[in-house]
Amino acid sequence: MLETSTDLSAQSIGVGMSAAAAEAKARETEAKMTDDERFSLIVSLIGAVPSIGVPRDKRIPEDVNNMSAGYTRGVLRLGVPALQSSDASMGVTNPGYRPDDKGATAFPASIAVGSTFNPKLARDGGAAIGREARIRGFNIMLAGGINLARDPRNGRNFEYYSEDPYLSAVLGAEAVNGIQGEGVISTLKHYTLNCNETNRHWLDAIIDPAAHRESDLLAFQIAIERSHPGSIMSGYNKINGEYAGGNSHLLNDVLKGAWGYKGYVMSDWGAVPEWDYAVKGLDQESGIQMDLKQWGSEAFTDRLRAAYAEGKLPRERLSEMVRRILQSVYAVGIDKWGPPPTVNMARHNAIALEIARQGIVVLTNDGALPLATDRPLKIAVIGGYAQLGVPSGTGSGAVLPVGGFASVVKIGGPGTMGAVRNLFLMPSPPLAELKKLLTKSTIDFDPGQTPAEAALLAKRSDVVIAFGIRVEGEAFDSADLSLPWGQDAVIDAVATANPNTIVVLETGNPVSMPWRNKVKAIVQAWYPGQAGGQAIAEVLTGSVNPSGRLPLTFPASLAQTPRPELPGLGTPWGTPTTIRYNEGAEVGYRWFAKTSEMPLFTFGHGLSYTSFNYSDFKVTGGNTVTAIFTVTNSGKRAGADVPQLYMTDAAGDRRMRLLGFERVELRPGESKRVTLVADPRLLARFDTQAGQWRITKGVYRLALGKSAGDPVLTAQAQLSSQLFGR
Ligand code: BGC
Repeated sequence: MLETSTDLSAQSIGVGMSAAAAEAKARETEAKMTDDERFSLIVSLIGAVPSIGVPRDKRIPEDVNNMSAGYTRGVLRLGVPALQSSDASMGVTNPGYRPDDKGATAFPASIAVGSTFNPKLARDGGAAIGREARIRGFNIMLAGGINLARDPRNGRNFEYYSEDPYLSAVLGAEAVNGIQGEGVISTLKHYTLNCNETNRHWLDAIIDPAAHRESDLLAFQIAIERSHPGSIMSGYNKINGEYAGGNSHLLNDVLKGAWGYKGYVMSDWGAVPEWDYAVKGLDQESGIQMDLKQWGSEAFTDRLRAAYAEGKLPRERLSEMVRRILQSVYAVGIDKWGPPPTVNMARHNAIALEIARQGIVVLTNDGALPLATDRPLKIAVIGGYAQLGVPSGTGSGAVLPVGGFASVVKIGGPGTMGAVRNLFLMPSPPLAELKKLLTKSTIDFDPGQTPAEAALLAKRSDVVIAFGIRVEGEAFDSADLSLPWGQDAVIDAVATANPNTIVVLETGNPVSMPWRNKVKAIVQAWYPGQAGGQAIAEVLTGSVNPSGRLPLTFPASLAQTPRPELPGLGTPWGTPTTIRYNEGAEVGYRWFAKTSEMPLFTFGHGLSYTSFNYSDFKVTGGNTVTAIFTVTNSGKRAGADVPQLYMTDAAGDRRMRLLGFERVELRPGESKRVTLVADPRLLARFDTQAGQWRITKGVYRLALGKSAGDPVLTAQAQLSSQLFGR
C-alpha cells in the first residue's frame, strides 16, 4: 500500500519547501507586490499556434522564444519566475507552438498506464515528463487527467486512467509526484465531470451531490492528498448548473474548504465567460485569448480590474489568488531551478516501452498466443497501418515523438479542434517488430483496404494478425462502438477465411467486436506510444508475459450502459446540452454489478501466459477492512498478477467497490503474501447533511478476485459505525 496522509502542512512536495514555509513566503512576497504585478500573475497567454489560427500575442515579451500553452509574466524583482505551462499527461507536447522542437518521448496513453495497475510506472513516466519539461523551460505541466471513464464514447478517455476513483487517484497521484519531484508544478484535471466531449462548452453535467463525492470527486480528493498538485484545472462543462470554473460550491466549499487544498485553480483554455469566477474560486484564467475567441472578452484583465476598482472584487481575494499561485511556486521549487537536468532519452524510451508492455491486455486467448517463434509459419499481418506504426489519440495531449511521426493522416471535423484532429502514427511499426522476433516465419502484409482482398492473404496463411484502430480525441465523442473505415468487415472476412486469427486493437476505448466469436485471440493494446510496436510484438510472441488488466468495463452493447443515447450527440456546436449522470457513483463495473448485466469484458480482466492461485484469504474489520492473502504462480512461466479486493455488499446494501489491488511479479511456483488496507471512504456513503463520510455498522462482504466479474475467494468483515473525514 502507498502511504496516505491528510496533513497538508507538514509535507514538502517537489524540490521546494514545506507547505507551511511556502505559505509564509507567499504571504511575504505578495505583500510587496503592486496591483499591476498581482493582475499579471492571475492570467496566462497562449503562445502562437498557427495550426488553430492563434497569432503571437504582443503581451508575450519579445525575448520569450519558447511558446507554450500558457505564459504568465513573472515578478523578477521579487524572484518570481515567469510561468510557462505545457501539455500533458503522455509527454511534453504542444510542439505546434515551437516549430524547432524536435519532439519528446511519446508515452502510451494514460488509459494504458491505467491498465498496468502499476503506480511505480506512473511515477517513472511522470519523472521523465518532468525532466523533459525542464529542459524546455516549462515549469508547469498540464498533466494529470483523472476524469472517470463514464462513457465508452468519450473521446478523451485515453487521456484518463480508468473508470474507478481509487485506481485513477493512485495512478494520477504518482504521475504528479513524478513530475513535481523534478521541480515542475503538475496539474490534476479536469475538475470535474468533464466526462464527455460533445458540446463541452455548453454541457451541464447533472449528478447527485453525494454520489459525486463517492466517484469523480473522490478521485480528486485522494489524488490531492497523495500528491499535493500545485494546480487544479477546472473543466469546460457545468456541474449542476454552474460552470466548473465558476462553481463556488465545488471550488470554495469542497476543494479549498473541506479538503484544505492550498494550491491554485486554473481554468481550462477558453472556459471563463465571466470575471466573477474570481470570487467563485478560480485563481487564474488560462490562455486568455481563447476566452476572447470563445466568449468575446477576456475575463481577468480589464473586466476584473474594473470590478476591482468598483470594489466588487475584494482586495483580500485578489491577494489570495496570487498567494495560492506563489504557494505552489515555492512548494514545488520552480523558483529554485539550477542547471537543467540531464535527460537520458534512451532511458525514457525504456520507460515508455515498459508501460506499453505492462499496459497491453490479452482479452481472449484460445491457445493462439503466444505465437511459436521456433517454427516457420506463414503469417498475414492485416490493416491498422501496421507497416508504418501505432496510432495515438488526438488533441492537446498528442505528443510528437523525437524524429517525427511515421505518418499523419488528416481527419478533420468541425470546430477549432477539427483542424488538428489527425491520425498520428508513432514510428514503431508492429510489422517490422514482428519480423524481428519471428525470424523463422514468412510475414506478409495486407493494408486491409477491402474485406475481399484481405481475405485472399488470410486464406493462404497459417496465422492472421489483424489490427483494428480508431482515431479518438479531444472535442469529439464517438457515435458508436464500431471500428471506422470498414475494419469490422475486414476482420470478419479474414476470420472467416482463416479462423486462426488474432486481433490487436489500438483504440482509446472499448469497441463492439462483432467478429469476436470468430477469432482465436483479442489483444487490447490501446495507444501504446512510441515503443508500442515493439511491446505488441513481444506480447504476441511471448517474450513478454502479458499482465495488463482492464481499467474500464467493455460493455456488450451501449444498451447496457447508463445512457444508450448520448445527449447532444450530433447537435451543432454550441447547443446547450444536459447530461444526467443518473448512475451516480455506480460507474462502470459498479453499474454492471447493480444491474446484473453481463459485460463483454469486466473491469480488472486480463489474461496471462501463466496461472495464479489465491489462498489464505483473511479479512479483519473494525474501522476499515484489512485483507491478507497469498498469491501463487501456479504455472510454468514467470509473470505478474493483479489480485483485486472488492466490496460487494455494505451492511445489506449491494454495492461494489474496488478497495485495493497490487501488481505482484512471481516466478513459477513462487508465492507472495499481500496485505491490502481499504481507504475507509470506499466503504462509506457521503452524508451531505453532515458533510462527512458515514460507515453503517454491519457485515461487509468482500471478494478477492481476478476481475470485478471473477471473484475467487470471499469473506466478510464486521465494521463499526463511523462518521469521519470531510
Ligand atoms: C484542454 C486541456 C489542455 C489545454 C491547454 C484544452 O483544450 O482541454 O486539457 O491542457 O487545452 O492546451
